[in-house]
Amino acid sequence: MSDKAILEFRGSKYEFPVVEGTENEVGINIKTLRGGSGLITLDPGYKNTGSCESGITFLDGEKGILRYRGYAIEELAEKADFLEIAFLLIFGELPSREELHKFHEDIKHESHVDEEMKKIINGFPKSAHPMGVLSSLTSALIAFNPTSVNVASDEAMYNAIVRIMAKFPVLVAWTMRKKMGLPLEYGDDNLGYVENLHKMMFKRPNKEYQLNKVVIEALDQLLILHADHEQNCSTSTVRIVGSSHAGLFASLSAGISALWGPLHGGANQAVLEMLEAIAADDGDTEKYMAKAKDKNDAFRLMGFGHRVYKNFDPRARILKQAADEVLGDLGIEDPILDVAKGLERVALEDQYFVDRKLYPNVDFYSGIIYRALGIPVEMFTVMFAMGRLPGWIAHWREMRLRMEPIGRPRQIYIGENSRSFKTLDQR
Ligand code: ACO
Repeated sequence: MSDKAILEFRGSKYEFPVVEGTENEVGINIKTLRGGSGLITLDPGYKNTGSCESGITFLDGEKGILRYRGYAIEELAEKADFLEIAFLLIFGELPSREELHKFHEDIKHESHVDEEMKKIINGFPKSAHPMGVLSSLTSALIAFNPTSVNVASDEAMYNAIVRIMAKFPVLVAWTMRKKMGLPLEYGDDNLGYVENLHKMMFKRPNKEYQLNKVVIEALDQLLILHADHEQNCSTSTVRIVGSSHAGLFASLSAGISALWGPLHGGANQAVLEMLEAIAADDGDTEKYMAKAKDKNDAFRLMGFGHRVYKNFDPRARILKQAADEVLGDLGIEDPILDVAKGLERVALEDQYFVDRKLYPNVDFYSGIIYRALGIPVEMFTVMFAMGRLPGWIAHWREMRLRMEPIGRPRQIYIGENSRSFKTLDQR
């Protein structure tokens, strides 16, 4: 007999089926709640609400487990490359050599961006934040690829996915080049996906591009670690916008905007700015710890805490080690890394952080590596978006294939009751 949850309200009992996932997570299916009882649930921030059933990513916040399609993040970060991960997330299985080759060839075939897009980029002031530019450009792409909106067939859906996988790195690179005053150039189809992204970002006019294996591997790993994280703020945004059948690119543009916020992807920029401020303040970590704990101060220790991880973030562990290795391999000594390690040490022993189960998240160490790779601070969240692209696409595709209904939450209204209109001279 399957489990049931029983709700008692004003003398009546209501029964609800309990659904169980493949990792034994259980949830009450309340589809019939409002129809039967007139009740709705109220859960600000959706801390207890499952918005969908999903087969893409599993994470256990208590045990610090993160798996893409069943594969441990630690193993994927070590053995796979970003394009394989993209294929795995989007289509559900690791690609064979032939499948990966075809996917890459299809992407290369679409890796041009309409020249008219350059006019749009050039319309932005240099001071524009790259996340705003990237979100706008992703949305503008729709005008040049109108068929990507209607994804009635498998083929149309595949084509839309390949197009954005191909054009997004160009937009990322152009966003950075615009900021740095460099000409907007294309990459090189002879290179791998991540190598090509790097070349498009860093190729200097009149200089031959030099490929550095350490840099490419570090970038590849960062992109993999950011590639998906189930129903986070930006992914939920992509799913909900996509649920209105607005199209993939429009959904992604909305996801980029959601990611921009400092409580989400924008944290990587905020972390580095915070660490720099601490370093400039003679490394006074105690002062910033006190600010973070002061309820009258809005300051939070950026890069600490997570909605789901209440033990450790496995991505942060990988990146802490990677930061040491990458900086070592590149021969860079960055005092910020010592500030970060010192801050982590103090926070992990502090009762306030221990009680609230606050640990470093993925963004605590990522910025230090991005900086070592020569990526400007304002581009950090754009790099996160580049990594998250396959995850967003996978969730959008899953949502469309499962024919999920349009996302439309309810509310408990707390405003005025009905009242009569007063004309201007009566107010
Ligand atoms: N510094 C200080 N206190 C914190 C922090 C922090 N970084 N994070 C949470 N807290 C405290 C809160 O003040 C609250 O304290 P209280 O119970 O005394 O009121 C308690 O811990 C719980 O915090 P919530 O905000 O309720 O936790 P929630 O799950 O809603 O938020 C979040 C998670 C947004 C990540 C939060 O920890 C935070 O703001 N961290 C800093 C920003 C950051 O690093 N974001 C990146 C997240 S990872 C990602 O998106 C890729």
